[in-house]
This record gives sequence, C-alpha cells and structure tokens, in this order.
Amino acid sequence: MCGIVGYIGPKPVVPVILEGLRRLEYRGYDSAGIAVGGSRGLELRRAPGKLRKLEEVLHERPVEGTYGIGHTRWATHGRPTEENAHPHRDCTGRIVVVHNGIVENYLALKQELIAEGHKFITETDTEIIAHLIEQEMASAAQTGKNMVLEESVRRAVRRLTGAFALVVICADEPNKIVAARFGPPAVIGLGEGEYFVASDVPGILHHTRNLYFLADGDMAVLTPEGVRLTDFEGNHIERPVQRILWDPIQAEKGGYKHFMLKEIFEQPRAIRDTTLGRISLDTGKVFLSEMKLTEEDFRRATRIHIAACGTSWHAATAGKFMIERLARLPVEVDYASEYRYRDPIADPNALGLLITQSGETADTLAAQREMIAKGSRTIAICNVVGAMITREAHGVIYTHAGPEIGVASTKAFTAQLVALFLFAVHLAQSRGTISADESRALLEELTLLPGKVEEVLRTIDGPCEQLARTYSTASDFLFLGRGIHYPIALEGALKLKEISYIHAEGYPAGEMKHGPNALIDEKLPVVVLATQDRSNRDSRLRYEKTLSNIQEVTARSGKVIAVAVREDEEIPHVADHVLYVPQAPELLLPVLDVIPLQLLAYHIAVRRGCDVDQPRNLAKSVTVE
Ligand code: M6R
Repeated sequence: MCGIVGYIGPKPVVPVILEGLRRLEYRGYDSAGIAVGGSRGLELRRAPGKLRKLEEVLHERPVEGTYGIGHTRWATHGRPTEENAHPHRDCTGRIVVVHNGIVENYLALKQELIAEGHKFITETDTEIIAHLIEQEMASAAQTGKNMVLEESVRRAVRRLTGAFALVVICADEPNKIVAARFGPPAVIGLGEGEYFVASDVPGILHHTRNLYFLADGDMAVLTPEGVRLTDFEGNHIERPVQRILWDPIQAEKGGYKHFMLKEIFEQPRAIRDTTLGRISLDTGKVFLSEMKLTEEDFRRATRIHIAACGTSWHAATAGKFMIERLARLPVEVDYASEYRYRDPIADPNALGLLITQSGETADTLAAQREMIAKGSRTIAICNVVGAMITREAHGVIYTHAGPEIGVASTKAFTAQLVALFLFAVHLAQSRGTISADESRALLEELTLLPGKVEEVLRTIDGPCEQLARTYSTASDFLFLGRGIHYPIALEGALKLKEISYIHAEGYPAGEMKHGPNALIDEKLPVVVLATQDRSNRDSRLRYEKTLSNIQEVTARSGKVIAVAVREDEEIPHVADHVLYVPQAPELLLPVLDVIPLQLLAYHIAVRRGCDVDQPRNLAKSVTVE
C-alpha cells in the first residue's frame, strides 16, 4: 500500500515521477504528492484524491528540478486530505519524506519531539520521521560530521518500530536521495547516469530493467554519480543486480477498457505459463525446481498449514480439497491475519504453505515467521519473483501470471489454483498416494485447461454482460457452492462486493436451511455453482444435493443463476439462467467455475459506474496489519 517513486538524473523529473506513480497507483489512491529539488530549492505539490488531481495542480503551478520524490497514498493514519498527503516536512521545510508502512511507536516519538519544541501539522505517523531526521541533523551539525543527511536518516530509522519503506531528500544536500527499507518493498533502478527508487518494479521498468531489491535493514544513497548501499549501522553492503525480464507492455491495458478485463482474458496464458516446464506427460511427474525440500521431507510431513488473505485465502481453501484428496494429508487453512493470534500448534513435522499474489502482504509474512519460529518449514506460492515471502521460504512455487494491476485479483487466483494442483500431485507422488497412471491422467487434464478457459471466455462474456443488465440494481447477492466449489462461491461474492459495492455473501449450499434461507425473496439473485465431473462419484453426489438446494431457492421465488457443465440436462429446467462451462475433473472445475463469476462482477461494476481497477478504500498490496 502506497506507491513511492524517486528519480535523480538528466530527464525532466516531474514526468518521470508522475509516470511511475501512475503505474503504482494500484497501491493506493487516496491522495498524491511530489517534491522536487532544483534551483529554487525544494518545491512541493500535493492533492487529495487520485493522481489526476495532482496533475491538475502541477499544471496550474508547475515545478522543475534535477531530482525528486513522489507518493500515492493509501490512508492509514489521518484522513485523505491535502494536509495529510505525502511528502511530509520537518519544522524548517528543508527535509522532505515519503513513506509506505506504519510507524507503530509514532505517538511516543511525537510526544518526545513536541517536548523538544517540534510543531506538527498533520495527523500522520509519517510526519514524525521528518522531525526525527531534523532532530538528528541538528545534533550531527553541532559535531560537524560529514554525510549529515545519510547518517541522520540512519539514526532516525533505528528509532522506528513498525514497517517502513521511506525516501528522503533535503534542501541542504541537493542532488541526493536517501532510501531505507524495513518491511514494505523498495527497489532501486540503475540507468545510464540516472537512478530511481520505487515501491515496485512497474514504477520504473520503462526506464531500466537493472534493479537492486533492498532487503530489510538496507539503506541506499542515490546521487548523480551512482548508488551506495549500506545497512542501518552504516556498513557497506552488496546486493546482486537483478535483471527483470518481463515486458513493460504486460503492465499496460493493451486495448482493454480496464486492467481487470485484460487480466481475466489473460488467464489461459497465465495457466499455461504456470504449468510450462513443470510436468512430464511421459512419466506423470511434476517438477518444482525452486523447492529446497526433498521427497523425504514430504514423506515425513504429518500435516499442512496454509495461511493467506482475501482471494489467496479462497485459493488456499480450494487447495485443501486438492491436497487432502490426492496426498491424504490433513490441511488446516487460516486467515493469515488470525494465524499468529491463536497460538497455532505448528512443529517441524508440519509444512507451512503461504499463498500470496504480491508476496508482501504483512499478515501473510507474519504468519510465515510464526510458522518458522515454531520449527515448520515453509513453501510460498507467489506471483512476484524475489518478493519478501519467497526469500524467507524453504521452497517457492511461482505462479507465472505476470503483473496483476487490477486491485481485484483474477488471473493470479486461477494461477494459484493451478500451482496448488501441481503441488498436490507432487506431494501425492512423493507420498505414494497416487499411481503414475493416475498422475499422468491428471496432468493430461491440466494441459487441456487453458483451451477450456479460452472456450469459456469466448462463450460467456456476452451472457454475463446480459445478466449484468438484469441484476446490476440488486442490493444483495448470494453465491452458493459445495465441496471445492464453496471457496469459489466465496470468491464470487468477494469479487462482486469489492468492485460493485453490492453486498454479497458466499455460503456452503447445504447450510442455507440453517438460517440464510430466510433471506430469499423474489429480489434476491442466487448464483449457484452446479458444475460436476460425471466420472467422479463424489462429484455426482455433491451435484445432486446442489440440485435440491437450487429447488429450495426457486421454491422461495429467489432468482437462480447457475454455473453448469455444457452437457447438463437438468439445470436448465430448474435455474432461471445458466452459464455453461466445459467438463473437467472435479479438482480442476474451480478454475472454470470462477470465470463467469469474475465476468459477472466486472460487467455489473461497469454498469454501476464503479471504478473497476481501483475500488474505493482498497489497495493492491496490503503491507500493514
Ligand atoms: O497479494 P496477496 O495475494 O497476499 O493479497 C491478498 C489479498 O489482499 C487479495 O487477494 C485481495 O483480497 C484481493 N484484492 C481480492 O481481489
């Protein structure tokens, strides 16, 4: 949450920073601001609301210079006003800071600084950082020390608790940008005579592909001469230069009206790329190359704990069905935000699995650390190469979905389901719970999946748009599913509420008669996941029960929108509307189930005039607890 961009170099600074912020706006869009250093000293412009408001301000009151920093905010401490917008300044206005994260001890520090005579004008935690640096600079100046800004930032960050990626400039030391990281991500871009700092790769990828990923406790000093890295003690450190291979175009809309729609349509490719090079149809083997765990580790495991948030939690819950069914290992799934507060029973025989698109979700990272502290080894399923969570994990399965910019997760979700499927098959092979033939058959089905997703996208977009015309004015929605389809019902409800602001709930279909049936009336649309794998006895049984649940809804005048397989002969007689998907094995059906739900949510949100890619009050990466 919050996007930061800093630049020092020969190009006009403002366009470089604004362009970077535009690409990072998914991280927060409550307000935006910029500070630029040049012949007129440091100049600031800020505006509440989205980046375009800041652009309007800059149009009226332009600034220019040779270096600068910018910020797009997701509000934590303080309302989204101009006053609370970053950058923030010290008492003199000569030190300017942008920050992503939360300073947990800010109240104690604020009181201390007020006692020293500092004056605060915002409600933010960030402002104390500027004053702390001011305080440190004042004491350093008295001793006549060199590198005053750098050393003062170092001393200041050592006093902070919480999480921060921060970038500082100071009018007294022009042409210098100091960055520090503890928690939220920060990358440094290395160009030809120009240097960048950003919260995430897309913010600077148009200028350079050569990056340092700062680790916790790293500081970087950017000047026109280059970049110097140290730790918080001032010791020189080295970080490898990483070359980013993905194409910046992948992070563009490419002719689609919204990133979300583009990302929905990218799912066949995301699934293919996540599978590519990881399976052998000859041997029925799955290869997970970034796994430092051995087959013996998998044999010894007695259970699996999965922790994740939001959409990734839904993937985790579907993954439980896959792992338990194939590898016969008990799986517990936790909301990462709850995990460490319930004193979980984890030990060296429990494998921890963290699922996260961004790899920087604070709660998921905290759950991982709790698992490791209790002796468990952890595996991360993650979409961002080199993200924090992958560095602390004993094994990684990357989902190769490509950059996901829309705040509502779509292609990352289906790629997570595929990664979980691969993991379940791999685990089952290691534990000897499935034969080579069974494994080969499952993997063959997996290779057919991208084609089936393409077919759904081709045939279902129109019907979903039609349904959106009928139901976009509904005030509530229910989503029902059983077994592995239940987490997909939850995901359908989350997608709808997140982007259309319609109240929606996901429910296990069989639980309706224990209370929620009371909600049903002729105004309530009920989306029921009624797909089935006819070759699977459990799937058929589940389907029959779901059919009865549909009857129970229609008997009470609810409007049923069913998702069913194309060959289904019964659903058209009982449901008001049917969205068809192709047949697939039970464990792969969720990938097909979810696509009509994504498109339905998308078209409803568009009809309601909602901001699909940047829904209110949300941010793409949740780097605070
Ligand atoms: O990056 P992560 O997968 O860890 O993010 C977890 C959730 O914040 C995320 O899935 C969120 O629920 C999505 N916006 C839902 O579309």
